[in-house]
Amino acid sequence: ADPELQLVARRIRSFPNFPIPGVLFRDISPVLKDPTSFRASINLLANHLKKAHGGRIDYIAGLDSRGFLFGPSLAQELGLGCILIRKRGKLPGPTVCASYALEYGKGELEIQRDALEPGQKVVVVDDLLATGGTMCAACELLGQLRAEVLECVSLVELTSLKGREKLGAVPFFSLLQYE
Ligand code: PRP
Ligand code: MG
Repeated sequence: ADPELQLVARRIRSFPNFPIPGVLFRDISPVLKDPTSFRASINLLANHLKKAHGGRIDYIAGLDSRGFLFGPSLAQELGLGCILIRKRGKLPGPTVCASYALEYGKGELEIQRDALEPGQKVVVVDDLLATGGTMCAACELLGQLRAEVLECVSLVELTSLKGREKLGAVPFFSLLQYE
């Protein structure tokens, strides 16, 4: 397969029964620890987005908190800015909120009302897609601001949880797929 993709794949670690029994945790920490692997992950995502959307993207939106590890670097690589979608209670000023169910637990996401103008085109980035609840809530928030979500991307996709289906018509791209 693609040697650049191999650089990323061999830096994903798996931990059974974390954070709760029955969950196989995919840990992206080693990707960040290895600059070659991190560089490869950003290049691969950026190249995909350049091919898929050319210069149409206005902003990258990073998801609190592990999406923040990739959002700004991906945005820089594309010559774009990054906006933040945060867990509730972290952002000052007027915000909009959406709740979601997580693979384990529950949460609420928030974005500042003035983060985007209606019609602006956004790509959402996170480290991993599981049930898709988090990504879906992010899309809902961006919809509340009447921004257009061009695509959602992540490094890792847990395919058996069918998060991609939850996203409906919004295109989704992942570097690595695990069952
Ligand atoms: C993890 C992961 C994704 C989300 C995926 O985040 O980083 O954001 O779960 O799960 P889902 O597709 O079922 O919604 P988590 O909420 O554990 O928090 P963190 O990013 O702050 O570590
Ligand atoms: Mg997360």
